[in-house]
Amino acid sequence: MGAATEVECLDGTVRLARDLDAAASTPAAAPVAAAVTELLPMYSSVHRGAGFKSRASTAAFETARRRILAHVGREGGDDTAIICRNTTEALNHLAFRLRLEPDDVVCTTVVEHHANLLPWARYARRRYVECGTDGMFDVDDVVAALCAQPVPRLLAITGASNVTGWMPPVDAICDAAHDRGVPVVLDAAQLAPHRLVPRGPDFVAWSGHKMYAPFGAGALIGPRGAFAEGEPFLMGGGAVELVDLDEVLWAPPPEREEAGSPNVVGAVALGAAVEEMARVGWAAVDAHEAALGDRLRSGLAGIERVTLLGPPPEIPTLAVASFLVDGMPHGLVAARLACEYGIGVRHGCFCAHPYLMRLLGCRDMAGTRARVLSGDRSAIPGAVRASVGLGSTVTDVDALLDALRQLTAGTEAPVPYRQDPLSGDFFADTSVPGWWSAGSAAGGGCAQG
Ligand SMILES: Cc1ncc(COP(=O)(O)O)c(C=O)c1O
Repeated sequence: MGAATEVECLDGTVRLARDLDAAASTPAAAPVAAAVTELLPMYSSVHRGAGFKSRASTAAFETARRRILAHVGREGGDDTAIICRNTTEALNHLAFRLRLEPDDVVCTTVVEHHANLLPWARYARRRYVECGTDGMFDVDDVVAALCAQPVPRLLAITGASNVTGWMPPVDAICDAAHDRGVPVVLDAAQLAPHRLVPRGPDFVAWSGHKMYAPFGAGALIGPRGAFAEGEPFLMGGGAVELVDLDEVLWAPPPEREEAGSPNVVGAVALGAAVEEMARVGWAAVDAHEAALGDRLRSGLAGIERVTLLGPPPEIPTLAVASFLVDGMPHGLVAARLACEYGIGVRHGCFCAHPYLMRLLGCRDMAGTRARVLSGDRSAIPGAVRASVGLGSTVTDVDALLDALRQLTAGTEAPVPYRQDPLSGDFFADTSVPGWWSAGSAAGGGCAQG
């Protein structure tokens, strides 16, 4: 999955570029790329053209929608799939569409990605389920938040953490929420590429780019009725039945929620991705990733000066591991792995600042905040994250573990690294192509996310 790419490392050696960052984004699966290639000659307007290609594109788009619904077991009933850009857009969309009032309470957790925290903050009060230093909470913690007054309008919870790979007990949590009349939205961005999405949540959101379909589409699933009243998130063509200058008759969902020309290529890619997951089979996905995940986590735990964050080894997680290297800033570890070993990982806070701060035990952020406000991101706390997907191999994991053993044993860097205070990232001071100038000029460091 993903063509083998070579990279010239700082010592002049050309190595395989190993991507251990599936929790960020994944390359296109071959059948996904094939489906997109097949569609492209037919590409035309969706729902808006009488021509043959237009009809073919519309059919492809609607077939993809059906596949996406079927993937989460929601076809043939009252549910709809809204094709959007990604999980972030899906959750913002839902937060708007639920017509929350400022006094409404949305119950969520400190484990969430920012995408499942910030949209609720815009419209409602939040009540947070806290986690322990191991990054977990249990059903009783959620029940306590559900039982507090006022009764929450919604429970917004992740299916799996993109930081630790921990999977909250979603089925039991959904039962507890439903027993109290509280609907549940599941952020399935990290879970959906690795596990069957649980059937309990009322709403589900996930992204194609983390599921081998990097063509800009995601999905928001939910009961059609939730989108049947009120104004849509976006207004414009395609979302309407009739428009007069003073009046609009909105189309029924899902069209009502998809104003503007839809991303048919992205939808077809996501439809192909869910078919591919079904073809591979969850047992095979789990077996592959569990083997690599165990190797990764136990390997990291066995390296002196490396500290794994999150749940203890006996707790099953997805194959995601966030860790610290004693005495070495997280950005420097990531830069050295990339420049000296050709290994791609992520560092920083992984768009989950409150969770990372808890895992790191950083409660007082005043100093960091002041420095960030002054434009200096060099001391943002964070960690290094390695994660695997279907395209990852044992050799990839072993290469990471070997590289970390060398780094922690004190292997000298071949050139100095400089930290860019604006991004917080480290760059090797070298003329080897692609490392210093391309890296620093591109901007937008990991540390910010
Ligand atoms: C758990 C989780 N939620 C939400 C998101 C946001 O996804 P996107 O950036 O595709 O909107 C991510 C992305 O990594 C994630 O891991």
